[in-house]
Formats: sequence, structure tokens, C-alpha cells
Amino acid sequence: MNPEQFETIIVETDLLILGGGMAACGAAFEASYWAKKHNRKVTLVDKAAMERSGAVAMGLSAINLYLGLKNGKNTVEDYINYVKNDLMGIARDDLVANIARHVDSTVHLFEKWGLPIWKDEEGNYVNEGKWQIMIHGESYKNIVSEAAKNALKELGDNGEYYERVFITEPIMNGDRCVGAAGFSVRENKFYVFKAQAVLDVMGGAVHIFRPRSVGEGLGRSWYPPFNSGASAYFTLKAGAEMTCQEVRFVPVRFKDSYGPVGAWFLLFKSKATNAKGEDYMETRAAELEKWAPYGTVTPTPANLRNYLMLQELEEGNGPIYMRTDEAIKELVANIPDEKDAKRKLKELESEAWEDFLDMTVSQALNWAAHNIMPEETPSEIAACEPYFISSHSGASGAWISGPEDLAPEGYHWGYGNMTTVKGLFAAGDASGASSHKFSSGSFTEGRIAGKSGLAFCVDHPDSVDISDEIIQELKEKILRPLAIFDEHKDYANDADVNPNFIKPKMFMFRLQKIMDEYAGGASVGFKTSQALLEKGLEFLEYMKEDSEKLAASNLNELMRCWENIHRMWQAESHIRTILFREETRWPGYYFRTDFPGIKADWKCFANCKWDPETGEWEMIRREVEELT
Ligand code: ADX
Repeated sequence: MNPEQFETIIVETDLLILGGGMAACGAAFEASYWAKKHNRKVTLVDKAAMERSGAVAMGLSAINLYLGLKNGKNTVEDYINYVKNDLMGIARDDLVANIARHVDSTVHLFEKWGLPIWKDEEGNYVNEGKWQIMIHGESYKNIVSEAAKNALKELGDNGEYYERVFITEPIMNGDRCVGAAGFSVRENKFYVFKAQAVLDVMGGAVHIFRPRSVGEGLGRSWYPPFNSGASAYFTLKAGAEMTCQEVRFVPVRFKDSYGPVGAWFLLFKSKATNAKGEDYMETRAAELEKWAPYGTVTPTPANLRNYLMLQELEEGNGPIYMRTDEAIKELVANIPDEKDAKRKLKELESEAWEDFLDMTVSQALNWAAHNIMPEETPSEIAACEPYFISSHSGASGAWISGPEDLAPEGYHWGYGNMTTVKGLFAAGDASGASSHKFSSGSFTEGRIAGKSGLAFCVDHPDSVDISDEIIQELKEKILRPLAIFDEHKDYANDADVNPNFIKPKMFMFRLQKIMDEYAGGASVGFKTSQALLEKGLEFLEYMKEDSEKLAASNLNELMRCWENIHRMWQAESHIRTILFREETRWPGYYFRTDFPGIKADWKCFANCKWDPETGEWEMIRREVEELT
């Protein structure tokens, strides 16, 4: 494939939304409303097809963030405290509050657009837990993306969306972000998007660490494997300050197929035990006191729940089981009438299967393949490999400006959700320190950021200039893997093994091996230390050199090349930040063996920044300013 034959397409817009997931859909929906008022243009670019892109692609069985403020069940303050405790004290209260106070209206919109939400006999939503409500959510993403597309379509020529266009690089004009460059994954087309404001909503990152699923299982992960660190790369390369890049998420999931555990723990009130049937949350409760005040709150923070489970495994007490059989028996035990009990049993069985069929079909297949009937047989659960997902229980992402009315001094520097780079906004998994926003909160934060980005466009109507020279440079750089393959492909008779280049899959395996062994992956029990991290950084330097030799035989591989460069940057910022924070704040997510405990003087954000001028990294400490 000859890069010179690629057509260059230049698209001009006011607000550029990069991504097609929940946050992007929220942004498109909200920004379209304001764009209509102010006669501005909104353009969305997704690497996939919006119907099935992002973390909600497969669907969901619950919406994990709904406060129900109107019925007085919860308060915004309760939610702030929940999030903060779950993250062992590290969260931006202002950002969490801003999402929480608006999220209910988002859920009501979803219902209006056709999302079936479970209702009880009185017509109220069925809560899974305090904040979580049950849905029939197989088509959740289709429903939401349709609304986003309709909103853009209503703008006529002022609303556009591009699907299957992969974004690689930010385009800067001095210290301001003025667009993005990428390429079509279906046609020989190179794209330059010029914009007044850019919203980065390209999701979190998977496959940075060696996954537990290898060989025939390769590609399975809990979070979508297609989320490959584009968000973090984009903001880092633009020179934006990042936060919580050390806060990975290691979810506990049904083993091997990554089925969700929330419905079992919260709705069915199931217990998890070791092989001997001991409930480690009870038998190891004393351990939690060592991590007070967070260890003793309810619910126990997710990382500490992992920690107790990992202790069981270290002592050889595995497998760990979700006692689905006991939970179901318990739920029908007190029903006196036999017929009613049978009916309830059937209902529970069907809910159990639907939980997987709504969001992780392969877990249902796994049950079928292993003759598991949840009402009779317990299922193994396990801690996954680490992921970067600030919308769930991780926190990594850009450091963004908070809402004017809530943000403490120092947390607000202009437009809400703007990064430290002018004109560059972030939301969803791309913005950090506001965990537990989940699907509904990501959409809500997208709305907030979309509105804010559009306001920036209205205030900065000046035209954006990107020189032909810059466009040519970007085109050459982005398409280079195709040229490298073309030049050297005939040297060897194996298309994948060649001394002149490296293919993206091999590159990914190398990155995953480094991260797993040196940065505390699953195979080393999530343990690392200064010596290991420094060695890992050294290996990453060699990888950076080798990234210049990435080769692609087609457009799909070209995308894989760039996905892995994105992953490498996410990886480097992660190692640097773990190294900077000299304590173990989230046991269960990772352990610094050289600093095994939590330290009061590390109750702060560990931020980092890469300087586009000098290529140097800077580590920054920022205080945690609390609202409650
Ligand atoms: S999901 O993303 O796959 O749906 P998950 O299964 O972890 O998430 O859980 C759904 C929700 O329940 C999340 O809000 C999670 O924090 C919460 N949750 C899961 N397990 C527990 C538990 N044992 N205690 C308290 N909250 C839990």
C-alpha cells in the first residue's frame, strides 16, 4: 500500500468530538442543542460504528449510577463520600458532585428513548444496590447512539459524524489544540479535522498488561479490547496535565469470561468464598482495620475486596467461588407456598442468565459449556488483569477544570471539563479523578463537556489555521508503518518476522510482558517496586526506539500500530506515576513492596505532564480539596 496514494480530506468544524462511546454520545446530544442556538457546527469522529462502540458496546444489565434525588433516597453528598472512600480518599469532589447532580435526568432520557428499565409493582425502578438500577440493556448502546445521531442530523450541514476513522494525533497551534489527524480504516483516506474546540472522549485502555486470556482466549477482556489508550495519548501529546495515572482498576469477575459480579453481590446478595467455603470478607475482617479509615467503611472499597481475595489465593485456598447456588436457595427459602417458591426460582434463574446475556454473552456460553446451572453450581471468580478506566473504579485521565459554582480554588481555570491545554476538553474515561461515573455518568459528563466546549467555540470564533507543511508532516508520520512494510516486505518469506520491522501484535506482546513483569501485573500478584519500575522504564525506552519501525500490511494493521503506540504512552505515564507515589494506597490494585503501607502525607493527587517542546516528563503533587 502506497501512502502517497492516500487522499487527504480536510474537515472544518467548530466543536470536534473524538470518540463514539457513552460520553461522546452525551456530548453530541447536548452540544447539538447549543450549536443550534448559536449556529455552530459539531462533528463527531468514531473509530468504529457508534451503534456498538465503546465500553457499552455489548450492552449492560444495570445502570450503576442513578441517585433518585427526587424520591429522596440518596443525596449528592452521600455519593461523593462513597466515591472518595472507594478510591481510598483520592477523588475530585467537585467533578463527582457535578456528574451526580445531573445524572438522574440522563437516565430519564434513556428511558424516554426506549431503554427498558426494570420496574417493581408500584412502577418504581428496581435497585440492584444503593446507586444501581436494573435494565434490560442488550441494546443500550444502540438506543443511546441513535439519539446522538438524530441530534446531529437535526443540525443539517452543521452536524456530521464520521465512523471508522481512527484518530491518532492532536494538532496544536502553539499552546492551543486546534484539531486532530487520523485515517479511515476502510478507505485510503487521511483525515485532518480543524476545530475551535476538541473534546477527547476516546475511552480508557485495555491490553497494556499481559491478559489472563492468552492463546485461544486472546482478545477477551472485561473492558472492550478496542479501547486502547487513545484518550491518554491525545491529552499527553497535547501537553495536558494528567491525574491518577497510577490508579488502575483490577475488577473481580467470573473467571475466564469476565461476567459481571454486581448483580450477584448486590441484587442476589451472594457471598464469595474460598474453596473451603469460608467467606473471606468475614474471616479476614481484621485486615481491613489496618487500612482505616477506608478499610472500615461500607461498602468496603473495591481494591480491598480484591486484596482479601488475593490473600486467600496466596495461601493456596483457591479456587474462589461465587456461591450462586446458596444465594438462590436463600432467596426462595422463606417463601412458604411451594408453587410461589418454584415460580420465584424460575424467575431468579432467568434473571441470572439475562445478567450475562445483556452484557457478556460469552459468560453464558461458558456456563453452558461447563454444565453450570447457577442455582446448583457455584462459579469461579478471579481478579482480572489491570485496566485503565476512570468511569468505573479506576481514576486515570486528564486533570480538568471543575464547575464554577463548586470547584475549590485551583480546580477551576476556565471552561468546565477543559484540560490544562486551551481548547482541549475531556470526559468519560478521558478525564481523571471522578470515578464511578459508569455509563450514565459518562453520558452526563459528556453533556457537561459538550456544552462547555461549544461555549468555548462561541467565545473563540477566530478561524483556525493549519499549514500545509504540518498536514504533510502528519500524513507522512501517521502512514509511515505502511511505507515501512512496503519497503521491506520482500526481505523475508514470513510476513510477520523481519529484521527490518516489527508487526503491531509482536509489539503489543512485548509491551504486555514488560508491564506484567515489571509494573505489577497479574502474574506477579500485582507487586512492584522502585527497582522493577526503573527497569521497566528502561525497557520502554527501547520500545520507543522500536516503535519507529512498526510496520503495517493493511489499514487494519495500521490502526493496530497506532493503538499500540497509544498503549505505550499510557504505560509509561502509569509506571512513572506509580514510581512517584511512594506508598501502597490501593492494595488489591497494586502493591509497592518497598512502600507497603498507606501514608497520610500521600493523601494527594499524583499528576504528570509531558512537555511537547522538551520531551521531558514532570511529576506534580496536587492537594485533595474536599467539599464534604
Ligand atoms: S459492572 O460494570 O460489571 O456492571 P460490577 O459487576 O463490578 O460492575 O458491579 C456493579 C456495581 O456494583 C458497581 O457499582 C460496583 O461498584 C458495585 N459492586 C460490585 N460488587 C460489590 C460489592 N461486593 N459491594 C459493593 N458494591 C459492589
